[in-house]
Amino acid sequence: EFHRHPKEVHFASDGAFGRFDRQQLQRGFQVYKEVCSACHSLQHVAFRDLAALGYSEAEIKAIAAGFQVPGVDPNTGEAALRPGMATDYFPKPFANDIAARAANNNAVPPDLSLITKARHEGPAYVYSLLTGYHDQPAELLKKFPEAETPAGLYYNPYFPNLNLAMAPPLTSEGQVSYSDGTKATVEQMAKDVSAFLIWTAEPTLEKRKQTGWPVLGFLLFATVLGYMSYKNIWADKK
Ligand code: HEM
Repeated sequence: EFHRHPKEVHFASDGAFGRFDRQQLQRGFQVYKEVCSACHSLQHVAFRDLAALGYSEAEIKAIAAGFQVPGVDPNTGEAALRPGMATDYFPKPFANDIAARAANNNAVPPDLSLITKARHEGPAYVYSLLTGYHDQPAELLKKFPEAETPAGLYYNPYFPNLNLAMAPPLTSEGQVSYSDGTKATVEQMAKDVSAFLIWTAEPTLEKRKQTGWPVLGFLLFATVLGYMSYKNIWADKK
């Protein structure tokens, strides 16, 4: 009863006519890059995929070069980090899960590429999680004293077990500076990054939704044609 259903929130990509709002995807990417990427990878997204958001080749190269990805030292042949290239994927920010756990109160920040598909009502869930941190309600503690948030965890009623290892990542207005003039409130940043994570999980969403209409049109045409030929074939058999 203390676990909450995600908030009501709408995205441009919702519904049968859904389209991505590329300005919003770029803002959401900026939030991911400047905030979330410190802990979360996007292993299924390559830097060059950002072309779909409207970034130029030069911009993509510069973005990629700002990330360190696993590579090989050309002199020793040993594993070493190198700056990213357009063909690389958004890397894991920690060397391994042990390092990730050490930095995050024993939790591993999950890869975010598919998170909006992996969770029930994913986009609304991500938005709600990011905007849903608050103090534990007194009734909860009265009823379940053992549910008190342990040190190092944070209470969030949208997280299934109510306490999670992620500190609120979006805490203040203007945490990122949007170049398109959009006011970077916590709600706005949360919504933008959720929209971006809809795109990472299904970059071909628009194609899927656009394909449906010609299919329905063809089925309607085929039905009418079928009915007309039926009429025609049996016309003189009254
Ligand atoms: C978990 C999103 C920033 C650390 C999660 C989850 C989401 C998420 C959706 C999964 C919850 C679930 O499993 O259902 C984001 C977004 C961020 C962000 C969109 C940026 C706005 C960060 C940062 C850190 C971090 C900066 C580290 C300082 C973690 C950890 C978990 C987690 C440790 C696992 C929590 C647990 O299982 O207890 N995050 N995150 N996140 N995140 Fe983030």
